[in-house]
Amino acid sequence: TKDWNGVDKIVLRSPRGASARVSLHGGQVTSWRNEQGEELLFTSSKAIFKPPKAVRGGIPICFPQFGNCGSLEQHGFARNKIWTIDENPPPLSPNDSHAKSFIDLLLKPSEEDLKCWPHSFEFRLRVSLAADGSLALISRIRNVNGKPFSFSFAYHTYLSVSDISEVRIEGLETLDYLDNLCQKERFTEQGDAITFESEVDRVYLSTPNVVAVLDHERKRTYVIRKDGLPDVVVWNPWEKKSKSMVDFGDDEYKQMLCVDGAVIEKPVTLKPGKAKSTYSEKKTMPNGCLEEF
Ligand code: BG6
Repeated sequence: TKDWNGVDKIVLRSPRGASARVSLHGGQVTSWRNEQGEELLFTSSKAIFKPPKAVRGGIPICFPQFGNCGSLEQHGFARNKIWTIDENPPPLSPNDSHAKSFIDLLLKPSEEDLKCWPHSFEFRLRVSLAADGSLALISRIRNVNGKPFSFSFAYHTYLSVSDISEVRIEGLETLDYLDNLCQKERFTEQGDAITFESEVDRVYLSTPNVVAVLDHERKRTYVIRKDGLPDVVVWNPWEKKSKSMVDFGDDEYKQMLCVDGAVIEKPVTLKPGKAKSTYSEKKTMPNGCLEEF
């Protein structure tokens, strides 16, 4: 057993040099690099790395709520809290064929959390890096309360892109979405693939388990493969909103796109003792190789 006292971030490495950095602040993945050492996640140059503020970039965890309805703070408190390391995590499952480097983090509610959200839970977040450099986040949220509770959840992943105008998402065409720019009104996607020319703040509903983000300029495709996460968050603040965020550069919207799996439209209800598991794996490949995934 290692002595983790005083550790505030963990670096996972693959044998061929890919890496991921995980911070105990928010249980947030703050860096993911490929074998060439290129950073694949966006973090703002103006990010504030001080709890209780969540870091602007990487993979913030939105829990127990996505958005800002009710008494909880926007996107819930999990991303603002200091998580702990589980020194004796359960082993990887035997059918997990690749060699993987992984870490398990835990979050349990504090007295203060219980005052604004009176439900006892245990949140286990496993971050794993496979030999091929793909990054997986597995969340297991367990009700350790005497009563049922409901929650919504999202991985608010900031992907790094070369130029947002050259990016498109495949896998969400023809689906319904809730538009946060129009009081969560429901629309149906009409286009062939999703492209960006203004602010986008949407939750796509009943999505397939594989979604791809194609960056033409960098000739890179991010493939997101997920399970237990029916919805997909898509967010780019564009010019005006960027200027209103203190922890985000005025032009940085061009280099980022938030996309990942979520459970929002139909919150999860957990009975006492029950758990909900979700999975989201990201991998990159050259454009045009999607069918190989
Ligand atoms: C989006 C929300 O998913 O996250 C937006 O729908 C919000 O309304 C954005 O601006 C970023 O949220 P935050 O709390 O990290 O600034």
